[in-house]
Amino acid sequence: MSAPTALSLEQLWMPFTANKAFKKAPRLLASAKGMYYKDVDGNSILDGTAGLWCVNAGHARDRIVEAIAQSAATLDYAPGFNMGHPYQFELASRLSKITPGDLDHVFFTNSGSEAVDSALKIAIAYHKSRGDTRRTRFVGRQRGYHGVGFGGISVGGIPANRQAYLNHLLPNVDHLPHTHGIAGNVFSKGQPAHGADLADALEALAAQHGGDTISAVIVEPVAGSTGVLIPPVGYLERLRAICDTHGILLIFDEVITGFGRLGAPFAADHFGVLPDLMTVAKGITNGNVPMGAVFVRHGIYDSVVNASQAGIEFFHGYTYSGHPLACAAGLATLDVYKEEGLFERAAGLAHYWQEAIHSLRGRPHVIDIRNLGLVAGIELESRPGAVGARAMDCHVDCFHNGLLIRTTADIIALSPPLIIEKSHIDELVDKLGKALDRLA
Ligand SMILES: Cc1ncc(COP(=O)(O)O)c(C=O)c1O
Repeated sequence: MSAPTALSLEQLWMPFTANKAFKKAPRLLASAKGMYYKDVDGNSILDGTAGLWCVNAGHARDRIVEAIAQSAATLDYAPGFNMGHPYQFELASRLSKITPGDLDHVFFTNSGSEAVDSALKIAIAYHKSRGDTRRTRFVGRQRGYHGVGFGGISVGGIPANRQAYLNHLLPNVDHLPHTHGIAGNVFSKGQPAHGADLADALEALAAQHGGDTISAVIVEPVAGSTGVLIPPVGYLERLRAICDTHGILLIFDEVITGFGRLGAPFAADHFGVLPDLMTVAKGITNGNVPMGAVFVRHGIYDSVVNASQAGIEFFHGYTYSGHPLACAAGLATLDVYKEEGLFERAAGLAHYWQEAIHSLRGRPHVIDIRNLGLVAGIELESRPGAVGARAMDCHVDCFHNGLLIRTTADIIALSPPLIIEKSHIDELVDKLGKALDRLA
């Protein structure tokens, strides 16, 4: 794709972007292949972030491209309400074979945000289907990101995303404390040792409100968007146990951890903790066609759908739920993941990745480094009165020197495609180290 010659930047309202600053000094990508983007001037840029945590199989994979093209030519669209097409059933059944435990039913959405809002509705529907009408509360977590729907920002814990809508959020939502900032955990390799007891805040909420008033707890197993917060050893297990005690549903938001990021199909597999519902998006189609999904345990589907006397059992859905192009991309993506063993590949590279990333310890202003699977967070000391400025400068510097990184406040988040080679890891660390030195 070549860039239009006389490009006007004014009309587009860009998402989660400092529009005015960006339009003064735009960074425009023109093409992508494998591990690299090219910008509109033809410069190669190593993708350190799998786009936005989604292109797990690398860019422009022939098999996925062909599947999408074929779908567009043969079944461009099919309505999904009281109608269907084979590919959505095939994808659901293929997915159910790689999901952990009995998370074997799938509801398709178009994004992670929609998956989260759908999961919250399914939780409500489940309790109602069992005649349990007392469970009206949801619990999220500080520094949680669950997309931008009203449900997602209500259970999410990012002040900037909530502040403007405080009078319009879902009622009856509490937040657990986040698990970050414990002194003994800095520069942890893998899961940090301290903080499992922070899960006990859920027990405290149960004591305060009554455990039987809480419908569901939603957490990212590894919080990505707020700067790669790895769960302390034993934390997720404790959350699961408290949920079991009180009959609370546990929702894992696996929008970034799903599809191999931690070296297992899902974080639930990696940690050996089975949630009741799981939300995914991004890597489900290698980010190539928008798609999200909610996986639910067998008993939930059974109670809401099979046991219902109603015609339509669940009043919810999207025009593009199970879109043929997304299903084609999803099926081809699963083929690539399997044939190339990309989840195992991520597991095999995790140690090399860890050591390479931690070699940046000691670079200017680096105050913490953390990692798991093929994810890393590098936290920089903030400039006084200018939180985020240092990391943003680093992002811009890296971009102009051939590396794509992602930043949140003063945290650099890295999550490369799972096809990454050791030589790319070396290139990434070299480029990032030089950028940190330049910014000193
Ligand atoms: C954990 C998590 N949940 C939900 C979302 C929202 O997904 P989307 O941007 O596709 O709506 C994201 C996006 O990054 C995410 O990381």
